[in-house]
Amino acid sequence: MSVPTGVFDRPDFADDTEHEQVVFCRDTATGLRAIIAIHSTALGPALGGTRFYPYVDEQAALTDVLRLSRGMTYKAAVAGLALGGGKAVILGDPTTVKTPELLRAFGRYVDTLGGRYITAGDVGTSAADMDIVGTATAHVVARSQHAGGSGDSAPMTALGVFRAMQAASESIWGSEGVAGRVVGVEGVGKVGYELAQLLVSAGATVLATDVSADALRRLTEQVPGVRTTATLADTELDVYAPCAMGATLSPATVASLRCGLICGAANNQLATTDVEHLLYERGIVWVPDFVANSGGLIQVAGEIDNRTREHVIEQVNGIGDVVATILARAQSSGALAGAAALSLARARLTGARP
Ligand code: NAI
Repeated sequence: MSVPTGVFDRPDFADDTEHEQVVFCRDTATGLRAIIAIHSTALGPALGGTRFYPYVDEQAALTDVLRLSRGMTYKAAVAGLALGGGKAVILGDPTTVKTPELLRAFGRYVDTLGGRYITAGDVGTSAADMDIVGTATAHVVARSQHAGGSGDSAPMTALGVFRAMQAASESIWGSEGVAGRVVGVEGVGKVGYELAQLLVSAGATVLATDVSADALRRLTEQVPGVRTTATLADTELDVYAPCAMGATLSPATVASLRCGLICGAANNQLATTDVEHLLYERGIVWVPDFVANSGGLIQVAGEIDNRTREHVIEQVNGIGDVVATILARAQSSGALAGAAALSLARARLTGARP
């Protein structure tokens, strides 16, 4: 077996010629081991959250950060933001190894990049953690409001998913949108909870599922009319909204879906890219996740540009128009929505490059 001779020969890089910079960070005093990946700064500084996760090994962390940072480039480009794509991962279990000293050490590494990378919260990190990171670097967003940040991004993410779902529903079922539709929301944490509220207000019937009994209780106690279920598989729905973990759409799960539309907040919903074709063959429309869930990114972009909340909401509402354009293009060109969204992103990126 041939052994890669250097970084650029590694399979991760051989498959992807686009990443601009990947930084491995180690601080022995605090135990920090992190990787920062800058995929593209063509449209602006690379922005993306910091995932704190107990990866099985460094290879798994590297694969994740490369994939996630690339996704951020496309998310920002489709949303029309002057931002590039980046992401950071910190290796380890946040419940045991996260300390203020470690977060500050990470912040110092972010600072060395001089603003080419701007960090934020993600799985395993919170606004409070970003407050600590922010004591070591100015290149951080989504800090808590009392620390000068724009706070939790879940409500804006949920609003964007709702607008995306409305637009896609209108394109499939006509002007009533989600009103009267049955929407299965998988995962009613920060985003799913807000989405369920918006859907009920718009006249949809919400069927919610979550592995957390507490999350379901909070929802049913606070949003009257929501029904709960153990699983959405083989359940008759109009819309499936994945709002828990990624990769829930696989050949096996697609076969058990009974819906006409999939639109949710979870990142990287397709377990493999060929799954979208399976959905198409079953007559199910999929709204690409990086289009539907860009509301949180729009919020933090607004934080950087000092935009008003009203302006941010207006931009998030615009996700509906973007989805309508992508679905119309896909239909007229015979392409899948994922390909139509990527080509929109690539056109913006190409236009930005000198
Ligand atoms: P969260 O952690 O608050 O909520 C996730 C919920 O999913 C929890 O209630 C959890 O119990 C539930 N869950 C986990 N595994 C499940 C399973 N197998 N079946 C059913 N429920 C399950 O996370 P949050 O912030 O609501 O994010 C949801 C998704 O949206 C994540 O994939 C996240 O990456 C993505 N996202 C979130 C954004 C944000 O602004 N919070 C922005 C863009 C994407």
